[in-house]
Amino acid sequence: MKDQSRRTFIKSSLFAGSALLAPVSLMSLMGQQKLTGVGSKVHLGVIGTGSRGIYLMQIINSIAAENNMEIVAICDNYAPNLEMGQSIAPGAKAFTDYRKLLEVKPLDAVIIATPLNEHAHITIDALDNGIHVFCEKAMARTMDDTLAMAQAHLRTGRILHIGHQRLFDPKFLRGMKMAHDGELGQITQIRAYWHRNNDWRRPVPADKPELERQINWRLYKDYSCGLMTELACHQIQVANWAKKALPVEVRGTGSISFWKDGREVEDNLALIYSYADGTQLIYDSMIQNRKYGLEEQIMGHLGTLEPESNRFFSENPPAPPKPAGIVQLIQDLEKNVFGSVPIGSSSWAPEVAMTYKGEELVPGNNTDGSLEQLIGFANSVREGKPIPGLFEQCYYGSVWTLLGQEAIDTGKVVTLSEKYVI
Ligand SMILES: NC(=O)c1ccc[n+]([C@@H]2O[C@H](COP(=O)([O-])OP(=O)(O)OC[C@H]3O[C@@H](n4cnc5c(N)ncnc54)[C@H](O)[C@@H]3O)[C@@H](O)[C@H]2O)c1
Repeated sequence: MKDQSRRTFIKSSLFAGSALLAPVSLMSLMGQQKLTGVGSKVHLGVIGTGSRGIYLMQIINSIAAENNMEIVAICDNYAPNLEMGQSIAPGAKAFTDYRKLLEVKPLDAVIIATPLNEHAHITIDALDNGIHVFCEKAMARTMDDTLAMAQAHLRTGRILHIGHQRLFDPKFLRGMKMAHDGELGQITQIRAYWHRNNDWRRPVPADKPELERQINWRLYKDYSCGLMTELACHQIQVANWAKKALPVEVRGTGSISFWKDGREVEDNLALIYSYADGTQLIYDSMIQNRKYGLEEQIMGHLGTLEPESNRFFSENPPAPPKPAGIVQLIQDLEKNVFGSVPIGSSSWAPEVAMTYKGEELVPGNNTDGSLEQLIGFANSVREGKPIPGLFEQCYYGSVWTLLGQEAIDTGKVVTLSEKYVI
């Protein structure tokens, strides 16, 4: 093993053995979802009142009274979006420069929902001003910015909470508990994918073509890594969570194969992340076909978890109810006919997928975890204490997302440099 991979392997094994992703953290995550309704008010600022910022503000409005939270300030440097924010939080002070928002008193925490390239400097300024931060995923556009955010969090002791809402989603919590308790058996392969069928573009005002990059920042490399940082980072975090480990290397490829419209980020990509125990995370994403949608298929020798669709499939499903007499008779006849066909051995039979529909992880689950995450964040801010292990989980999710992009960009097998281990 090369020196570099040996070091990464050792760190990875340490990570796997640490309390970081142990069930104790799952328990604290579950506890953090509860409405507390007590304690001091949490005064919030929202920076970036675009699509995600507005969604989070709407959730906050729906839970603010029971959870003693208030949006006291908002900021956006694009007037139409600032106005949208003002319509959701009419009582909040409004700013176009986030540094002015950071001076508002009292202000306990900010939510940062700006484009990816704007996360690091805003987060670091807020933490250095003694303000707790909820920053949307992925953490940053570059590895150095991601590390600088982590260092600011560790230096200031302020909470840095990253918008990986699956960490608070009851169906994921239940599924991960099953995985960590051994109910899936030994997990050796995870297949994850995110497929859509649209150009991912937002309309730019006809009289302001110069706003193209600002509005469609996801499509340009200075701002974003496209599918990797916008979508894959969620699923890489889920895979690491299920494995309670980090990958040791990643290889990948990508292309702009369909939406050849001037964008710089891939619309079609495939990667393999390898873990020290031989597990492979096989990942792909595209935005020109939506049939298979979105899933993480976490496969062990005893069962498969599909948490996005709230399901667990045992390798030994319960027997289906016995068919009615006449159907049974036909089935028995067919079995006899095909059973007598003399074709070599029984290995001729094709491997057909299981038709069994699995079991629901959380009956009737209808949340994506964002509401629970905001409650968890408010509780954490109120107590002045981060949720154990949460930041590290998100940090390495972002780091391995950027390493995946590096593998696509360079065509090389990429490992984690010790410089970025926290
Ligand atoms: N957790 C999730 O599931 C999820 C879902 C969607 C988006 N996101 C994340 O949320 C973030 C925002 O995504 P979006 O879709 O809302 O983008 P968006 O373009 O709709 O909104 C971003 C907003 O930030 C504003 N902005 C840019 N620079 C700013 C600055 N320096 N100061 C103040 N405002 C600034 C823009 O004007 C815009 O209104 C991204 O990091 C994205 O990855 C997370």
